[in-house]
Amino acid sequence: MSEPPHYCEGAAVVETGDGFFRPASRPARDFGVLLARTLVAAGTDGPVQVLDGMAGCGIRALRYGLEGGATAVWANDADPDRLPLLERNLARLPAAVHRQLSTATAQQLLAGCLVEGRRFELVDLDAFGCPAALVPLALEAVAFGGVLYLASTDGRSATGHDRLAAVRRFGAAARAHPASWEIALRLQLGLLARTAWAMGRGLSPLLSFSEGRAFRTAVRLARHPAAGEEAQLGLVAHCHGCGDQQVQSLLRLGRWRPCACPGAALDQGPALAVSGPLWIGPLQDPATLVAMLQQAEGGGAHLERPGRRRLERLRDDPAATPRCWPVDVIARHLGQGPPPLAPLVAALRAEGFATAASGVMAGQLRSEAPWPVIVATARRLLDR
Ligand SMILES: C[S@@+](CC[C@H](N)C(=O)[O-])C[C@H]1O[C@@H](n2cnc3c(N)ncnc32)[C@H](O)[C@@H]1O
Repeated sequence: MSEPPHYCEGAAVVETGDGFFRPASRPARDFGVLLARTLVAAGTDGPVQVLDGMAGCGIRALRYGLEGGATAVWANDADPDRLPLLERNLARLPAAVHRQLSTATAQQLLAGCLVEGRRFELVDLDAFGCPAALVPLALEAVAFGGVLYLASTDGRSATGHDRLAAVRRFGAAARAHPASWEIALRLQLGLLARTAWAMGRGLSPLLSFSEGRAFRTAVRLARHPAAGEEAQLGLVAHCHGCGDQQVQSLLRLGRWRPCACPGAALDQGPALAVSGPLWIGPLQDPATLVAMLQQAEGGGAHLERPGRRRLERLRDDPAATPRCWPVDVIARHLGQGPPPLAPLVAALRAEGFATAASGVMAGQLRSEAPWPVIVATARRLLDR
């Protein structure tokens, strides 16, 4: 009989079986391993226990044990037919790594952890669809100082294509927006933050990214909210007429400033499309991303070149403001070709405005500059 085909990724060799598996999700797996290693590096020789709640073939759990420095891994998938595959793949874990396998639903698994008082340094939930219903139990399963690494493939409700579902799942308005992935990540973080706060906990985003199919956020859980953390929940308004964007924290909610549309000052402009409540603070923690890149350089954990480039782009854009525009949208407002992104970033920075090329969506400008200043600066660059 011929051997089943094997797939190699990082230090892992697995059978992927008949169920869901995407080689293209490799950067997300590489990042999870590097996050685990930063926990090991920052820890005080304590255990690093990882819960892989939607394990599929178990490749993440295996890599957490082989490369992530995990002292224990628990691989769970609700599909009982995957258990023999999980067993075969995780047999490759070093003997020193404690392992546990199960076939519960994530809801049952996490509820059991709560009942037993079990907490993990890293909880990885690589969900199909929207994991909103799992968030309270998932946060209960994370140790203080530990990380929840959450994926959602629910693009429709988070990008303004299903507004009813957005209200149901996020308790928020989600409107069409030129930086749609960014808004989706911020809605997810807003839900995580509100849930953590309701439990008396705090959180800080470490890593947020998407390739348009899955929306992935990693957050660190704190025993208590940090001072001022609640100011990071707010609303984002976008004018489909003139392109302006505004941001307000829920703590200091006031009237929206009139945009540049004709009649706006007299309250006769187009209605602003408002999304939120969502997370308006930074999406990335540059110190964590630097530590992850260093871990990859030190060897032991694998990071493919596309993943490295993505991580570097995210490191260079902490995403401190949600105000983002595709250069193509700026071009539409100018009535001429798109402005070159790097010179536009440099010019706005030289004018004193916090500005970056978005690390979340390629070809987008992130800036705190007023919209008319952005348009005028872009025009100047193109007219040179
Ligand atoms: C996106 S796949 C996981 C892929 C895997 N993490 C990887 O990197 O290859 C999601 C997995 O979750 C499982 N699943 C779906 N609903 C679940 C639930 N409610 N609880 C636990 N597992 C579930 C599916 O059987 C599927 O294998």
